[in-house]
Amino acid sequence: MKTQTSVAAAAALFTTVASALDSISISGSNFINNSTGDRFDIVGVTYQPGGSSGFDGTADPLSDATTCLRDAILLQQLGANTIRVYNLAPDLNHDECVSIFNSAGIYMLIDVNSGLSGQYIDRSDPASTYTLAYLKHVFSMIEAFWNYPNLLGFFAGNEILNQDSSTDAPAYIRAVVRDMKEYIDLHAPRTIGVGYSAADVATMLLDTWSYLGCTLDNSTYSKMDFFGLNDYEWCGDSSYTESGYSTLVTDFAGTDIPVFFSEYGCNLVTPRTFTNVPVLFGSEMTELSGGLAYEYSQESDDYGLVAINSSTEVTLLADYSYLKAEFAKIDTSVITAVNKTAEDAPVTTCASSLITESTFLADWDLPSRPSGADALVSSGVTSASTGALTSVTATAMPATVYNYTGATISGLALNSDASSSSDGSSSGSSKNSTSSSAAGPAVAVDYRALALVGSVFAAMLGGVAVL
Ligand SMILES: *[C@@H]1O[C@H](CO)[C@@H](O)[C@H](O)[C@H]1NC(C)=O
Ligand SMILES: *[C@@H]1O[C@H](CO)[C@@H](O)[C@H](O)[C@H]1NC(C)=O
Ligand SMILES: *[C@@H]1O[C@H](CO)[C@@H](O)[C@H](O)[C@H]1NC(C)=O
Ligand SMILES: *[C@@H]1O[C@H](CO)[C@@H](O)[C@H](O)[C@H]1NC(C)=O
Ligand SMILES: *[C@@H]1O[C@H](CO)[C@@H](O)[C@H](O)[C@H]1NC(C)=O
Ligand SMILES: *[C@@H]1O[C@H](CO)[C@@H](O)[C@H](O)[C@H]1NC(C)=O
Ligand SMILES: *[C@@H]1O[C@H](CO)[C@@H](O)[C@H](O)[C@H]1NC(C)=O
Repeated sequence: MKTQTSVAAAAALFTTVASALDSISISGSNFINNSTGDRFDIVGVTYQPGGSSGFDGTADPLSDATTCLRDAILLQQLGANTIRVYNLAPDLNHDECVSIFNSAGIYMLIDVNSGLSGQYIDRSDPASTYTLAYLKHVFSMIEAFWNYPNLLGFFAGNEILNQDSSTDAPAYIRAVVRDMKEYIDLHAPRTIGVGYSAADVATMLLDTWSYLGCTLDNSTYSKMDFFGLNDYEWCGDSSYTESGYSTLVTDFAGTDIPVFFSEYGCNLVTPRTFTNVPVLFGSEMTELSGGLAYEYSQESDDYGLVAINSSTEVTLLADYSYLKAEFAKIDTSVITAVNKTAEDAPVTTCASSLITESTFLADWDLPSRPSGADALVSSGVTSASTGALTSVTATAMPATVYNYTGATISGLALNSDASSSSDGSSSGSSKNSTSSSAAGPAVAVDYRALALVGSVFAAMLGGVAVL
């Protein structure tokens, strides 16, 4: 869990090179820009190139800098400010990828679980999978990512509760939230939210929300900090009322924590035109904090925005163009205009009367930790590695990009202006940007010379730079 301390001198140098994004905090029902207090909405895309079945623990979506650069450029062009990443290995080095996304102005929601054995809670048998080894994996994930400024939060679970989950599964989810939040509180360098991402099962949504979100006096850590719902109800051209979005706004009115779509994007009608976006980010839905379109890459289930043809060739699908056009319509002033003094809604105390379905668990007897886990929480994981931002030197698109029309798209590059520090007027003292004359988006290059020095240091440090 400890960062290297022998590199303090290099760290001092790097602080002049890397521009960390302002952290996003949670205030009542909103995510907020910590430097201004302005409300922040998630304009996101879920990111799992290779699909969930492609993950074997030896590589993950944030372990290869070349693919991350390729994808960060295309996500930045799209207008995204957040990615959600599902399957990650805590012992891999994520510094380059996370730094690239940071440079692109993109935050990360990180799922701590993976599909590998021992790295998730089994919905049908939660008791046997809530183990010391499982918690060690979860805490190692927390340590791997807690240092990155563009970390937005952790998901303690994704779609664990559905028609097949055992009755006691909700209590295990609250137990994992409890353990993660206590671990973060004791050891992390800053406050980081822990939430849950719910399956699109209408009969369970509100009970899941009530069960995980209520306040428990005898286990305050176990209350989730934000709630994501995977929502696929808006298909093709729909409307605020026809889609069911208006019902959600009624259901979540008065929420005391941020609520957002942790996945959206019905594909029963194609191409997906994403006409839900202006509604989701419009004045009718300020109760919600945005959402993430599912998903970046085309996989077998046909939800992709981009087809990855090979490691050096990608094709923007029609859905990418539609989503980009809708993202461009988002009016940030609507998002930031929400009354800040009204955001601290009263909390709800856990009580069986909150639960509406007779089959849903209605008591909060949370499982105690597995043997040895109390010590793990209090002392920390001794062998966990912690990431840190490093300098981003390459900014040119490392792949050939085709439009769905077949045309080659040129002039693509990472615009690292997105990560300028919080005070625009002083950012000139820590950056030197020059616009390229290339066609397409403006290309900004931060302190090339210093970055070069930085990469030499990074090489000396075995590729690990500490900010
Ligand atoms: C946000 O700012 C407050 C006060 O300025 C600080 O105490 C807190 O640690 C910051 N939170 C994050 C997530 O940076
Ligand atoms: C890339 O994949 C897409 C989707 O399968 C396909 O339409 C396109 O023709 C492919 N492009 C190349 C260059 O192979
Ligand atoms: C903001 O909310 C507070 C508390 O609900 C209320 O007193 C105040 O009038 C509101 N201000 C505006 C501008 O709506
Ligand atoms: C904590 O409080 C809840 C709600 O009142 C109750 O169901 C649960 O049994 C309590 N747990 C313990 C360990 O006392
Ligand atoms: C892709 O092609 C469509 C249709 O011609 C066009 O509207 C869009 O701007 C193109 N995208 C890019 C990135 O050039
Ligand atoms: C946070 O506020 C600062 C200062 O206005 C701004 O530069 C930055 O872009 C904001 N970040 C986000 C994610 O809105
Ligand atoms: C930025 O770099 C350019 C090219 O190296 C140089 O001419 C210019 O003086 C620099 N500007 C600042 C503010 O350092």
